[in-house]
Amino acid sequence: MTAVLPSLALALLCLLQARAEVPVQPGFNAEKFAGTWHVAAAVSNCSVFLKMKDGMKSSIAAISFTPEGNLAMKLVWPLLDRCQEFELLFQQSGQAGHYVAAQEKRDLCVMETDYSHYAIVHEFQENGPEPSTALQLLTREQDVSPQLLQKFKELIPTVGLTKDMLAILPKSGECQEDQCTKAIR
Ligand SMILES: *[C@@H]1O[C@H](CO)[C@@H](O)[C@H](O)[C@H]1NC(C)=O
Repeated sequence: MTAVLPSLALALLCLLQARAEVPVQPGFNAEKFAGTWHVAAAVSNCSVFLKMKDGMKSSIAAISFTPEGNLAMKLVWPLLDRCQEFELLFQQSGQAGHYVAAQEKRDLCVMETDYSHYAIVHEFQENGPEPSTALQLLTREQDVSPQLLQKFKELIPTVGLTKDMLAILPKSGECQEDQCTKAIR
């Protein structure tokens, strides 16, 4: 046991260091970040995502904050022929712009945002059979400029992912925020 502890501590340190490398938007302002975003592009090494990504369409993410400063995300995905709604709740961590969902072992960082046009969000998740990393490009408008897409693509290798894991999600127009089947987890 005593021999195991130091290496365990070291392993934990590696993990912490790995996360600390993800930059977070300096001076993150939750109030300005709240509201409706379109998920315009996503890149992930999650095997389920990789299998489905070519058939995926853009979804809507409605972000709000509780009085305690926790982040609530309502996602509306066009799945098969209907709209599915998912709700995720993240607790605030010690650092502004960094949130954790302890039960689902998810970790979310707002890497970069100008609040009015785009945001780049990093997610790390350990709840599946394998840990996975994802980056999402969120935009206020459904249209994405080539410059913004380029900026997003350049960030992909910095988080240990590759461009073949990228999905640029086409507009759907099928799902509005309010007309959904609820599938809250
Ligand atoms: C995804 O990438 C992260 C970071 O590079 C790595 O820790 C994780 O094991 C990878 N997961 C899969 C399923 O490849």
